[in-house]
Amino acid sequence: MDLRQRIATRMTRLAAAGLLRTLQPPRGIDLCSNDYLGLSQHPELKRRMAEAVLREGCGSTGSRLLRGERSAFSAIEKRFARFKRTEAALYFSSGYAANLAVLAAFLETDDAVFSDELNHASLIDGMRLGRARKIIFPHSNVAALRKDMERGLCRGQRFIIAESVFSMDGDIAPLKDYAALAESAGASLIIDEAHAAGIFGERGSGCIEAENIGSAVLVSINPMGKAFGCAGAFVCGPWWAIDYLAQRARPFVFSTAPPPSIAAALDAALDLVEKGAERRKRVLSLARYLRALLAERGFDVAPQGSQIIPILIGGNAQAMSVAGSLQNAGFDVRAIRPPTVPEGTARLRVSVNAGLTEAILRSFTDALCTAMRSAAAA
Ligand SMILES: Cc1ncc(COP(=O)(O)O)c(C=O)c1O
Repeated sequence: MDLRQRIATRMTRLAAAGLLRTLQPPRGIDLCSNDYLGLSQHPELKRRMAEAVLREGCGSTGSRLLRGERSAFSAIEKRFARFKRTEAALYFSSGYAANLAVLAAFLETDDAVFSDELNHASLIDGMRLGRARKIIFPHSNVAALRKDMERGLCRGQRFIIAESVFSMDGDIAPLKDYAALAESAGASLIIDEAHAAGIFGERGSGCIEAENIGSAVLVSINPMGKAFGCAGAFVCGPWWAIDYLAQRARPFVFSTAPPPSIAAALDAALDLVEKGAERRKRVLSLARYLRALLAERGFDVAPQGSQIIPILIGGNAQAMSVAGSLQNAGFDVRAIRPPTVPEGTARLRVSVNAGLTEAILRSFTDALCTAMRSAAAA
């Protein structure tokens, strides 16, 4: 079979399993993006970024280790490190690149890494690049992790890896327990704050702040394409870990630095997050409201959790059909299918943002019930 035929077979298989993806631009009321605070469209971010483009040009022209460096990058890194109450921070071009970088750089041959079964693909891929022994523990199960750690002794270092807010389930990891476990076992805790940074904590810096576990965390990864409305990601931690990444993290060393104008947008976003307690509260209170509405209508939704609310459907085709009906009714909701989520757990991933209202959430819930009924009847 030649390559073209082989790929055609793979595509046919994906289509038969209801797993073909399409590229669909935003349309309708946003109930699926990660723009939780609405900052991607904020006039201040647009203005600051546009001014920076006019001043600095478009591309950075090289790796940060060569001519791609700008003082605006190191300034925003220092500022973000202060925000996270860590010694240092390093900016990567995406959260995906940051996760690959961190895990590939820190995990070595004699090490063991304990990873939540629902961790994001970028953490899984990072572990593949790292050479440590992998132990996958059941989702947020502290007792199982403790047992695994008692059994999983190794000659090198041990790492625990989890997201603070899980991207497809919207639940929050038992971070205090992980911190205690890491401290007692002498293990290093790595936390991905992708969906927590900007939303949780008194100052909006994430769940590490909210749970007051900063001293137990080796590094956190803070993607900026979500609540901060920009792009890229800061890895934050002690100076020796961050210095090492700047030397050895391949996605940092061997890649052109992001457009310098992004530093201006990040600075503006951080201003708004620091002043944005009301916006954060609004997102979380709208999320609680939607959770209660859905529970009233019989959906299996936890009363507490984050701004991400999964509506489990199961089958791939049904999830696509429910999402399609909602889109036709004017709501931008997307179906999430394997391998993004485990087999048989296709779902709608509903995310709440500060621009929504209770009235919109009520009409969305009505539309969802109608869409579920017609999918069941089909
Ligand atoms: C938990 C988690 N980590 C990392 C990433 C990757 O971040 P980015 O989109 O900036 O590459 C995502 C994005 O979907 C995510 O949900």
